[in-house]
Amino acid sequence: MGDTLYRIYLCGGSTCTPRGRDALLRALEDELWAQRLDDKVDVRVSGCQDRCDYAPNLTIWPGPYHYSQLTPAAVREIVQQHLAHGQPVAAWLSSEAERR
Ligand code: FES
Repeated sequence: MGDTLYRIYLCGGSTCTPRGRDALLRALEDELWAQRLDDKVDVRVSGCQDRCDYAPNLTIWPGPYHYSQLTPAAVREIVQQHLAHGQPVAAWLSSEAERR
């Protein structure tokens, strides 16, 4: 992975996509650029992550950290805290019950 610190899988499945996948991707890319992390984070759009009830979802490695029910503001917060400072954002992490 070279200089890559994190890899993000943004769910592009059939439930997450109509619930704002494109807006989340834009927020993610904008905030990574603003935080000068765009070279350090590999962003991919995945297939369904099997947590559709909590859409829209994304997963961060190393981890996995599963974030759910996301908004663009949540994604920006995750970039600022988790990716820039290594502090996962508890408010947006999936609960145990949501994990599989
Ligand atoms: S479509 Fe995203 S978890 Fe299923």
